Amino acid sequence: MREEITVPRSERGLQQEAAIKRLAERFAGQKMTYRITTLGCQMNAHDSEKLAGILRDIGFTEAEKEETADLVLYNTCCVRENAELKVYGRLGYLKGYKRRNPRMRIGLCGCMMQEPNVIAKLKKSYSWVDLIFGTHNLYRFAELLEEMYSTDSQIIELWDKADGIVEDLPSIRKHTFKASVNIMYGCDNFCTYCIVPYVRGRERSRRPEDILREIRTLAEEGVREIELLGQNVNSYGKNLAEPVTFAELLYMVSEIDGIDRIRFMTSHPKDLSDELIAAMRDCPKVCPHFHLPLQSGSNRILKRMNRHYTKEQYLDIVRKLREAVPEIAVTTDIMTGFPGETDADVEDTLYVIREARFDNAFTFIYSPREGTPAATYPDQIPEEVSKVWFDRIHTTLEEVMNARNTARIGKTLYVRAEEINSHDDTMLTGRSNENLLVHFKGDPSQIGSIIPVEIDEQMTYYLIGHPVGGPCNA
Ligand code: 5AD
Ligand code: SF4
Repeated sequence: MREEITVPRSERGLQQEAAIKRLAERFAGQKMTYRITTLGCQMNAHDSEKLAGILRDIGFTEAEKEETADLVLYNTCCVRENAELKVYGRLGYLKGYKRRNPRMRIGLCGCMMQEPNVIAKLKKSYSWVDLIFGTHNLYRFAELLEEMYSTDSQIIELWDKADGIVEDLPSIRKHTFKASVNIMYGCDNFCTYCIVPYVRGRERSRRPEDILREIRTLAEEGVREIELLGQNVNSYGKNLAEPVTFAELLYMVSEIDGIDRIRFMTSHPKDLSDELIAAMRDCPKVCPHFHLPLQSGSNRILKRMNRHYTKEQYLDIVRKLREAVPEIAVTTDIMTGFPGETDADVEDTLYVIREARFDNAFTFIYSPREGTPAATYPDQIPEEVSKVWFDRIHTTLEEVMNARNTARIGKTLYVRAEEINSHDDTMLTGRSNENLLVHFKGDPSQIGSIIPVEIDEQMTYYLIGHPVGGPCNA
């Protein structure tokens, strides 16, 4: 349900809607199917929900697997090389299926498509790809599909920058009780290893009224938990005509009836304000979880990465967060093998891991990305060396995580049941307020509810517990 009266629909939204209608008529009764594979971050996952929403409105249903789908879409990621290699591999594999099924069409979109060298390669060697579009023209998907089906030729549409923000795209969510909401797009930070600013463009914030309207509609549809998404949510709202801070936005979202949990991703340590820490302390709906990418614990490497903070400043933020919200879980991203890194730098990273006492971390081996400054640095690290450092980082992380989780045994965490456990159907799997993964005995009727669970066991990456008392739908 959308508020059509109070919100003038944009010209672009109307064009999209008209294309959806024409496609729906064209394919009526043909039982068309699709399969979307998403690589990369939550932003991409959320974009895929929008693509699926458009396909659903056209009348396509989800196929069980790619091999039998009429439309196969890859929403790609280019942050690391592995994700790109996977796409080329799958395209090779799907070529044979496409030959046997003349209805099959293959589409590529997402960050990788914003890289000129990728497009050159696809044009030269992957002629069986039918549709290519990028991150800035996702809302043109229905119109591009229409063009692809009408002309039966390869359609490539790429824009090198965004032309504003398009509101009100339909979307399909995996869960009925939780949803992601974009609050901003792009990134202006230009960390020297990172390709995101080049493929996602400059930082653009959505207006708070558009964000709040979307969340109110979601709450009316039964959504209880919201994750606010942006590459760097701490700088939300700075460039709006009427500037708003991220902390102010959190207070506004907290006012919305029906929403009981608010999460957000991702923050940059350099502009994390005391105001935001206070908002986390004062808004009970804002979950006690902070994902704060560290990348490296060495001041020398942080400088070379253009991160604009030191390990001391980073640890100071973590200390303030823990002081304000004692139960908070702090998670992070850590990279190793950055050009010029030494054993001593890795030692600094291990020190910060121990001091910050992370509850979880995504760890990566540095992958040079063409077009970024770090890819041109002469002192690249051999993979064998990075792997040794990567293992050391993991060992230290696991020690810290085990200690953190062991301290949770006997405590009660509030866990929203999200799904039936994939190994044992008498158990449910969910996320605690702190975003910890918890398995516990329960039945499917509890999915979507928040259950108090006493923790019995810890297994480094997840916890096992038993429900105590009745369901709690606070
Ligand atoms: N190589 C490896 N990891 C990277 N990341 C970003 N760029 C690269 C790269 N070139 C990691 C960072 C970031 C996360 C989303 O991906 O740790 O926080
Ligand atoms: Fe990439 Fe840095 Fe922006 Fe994060 S903050 S998206 S790592 S440039």
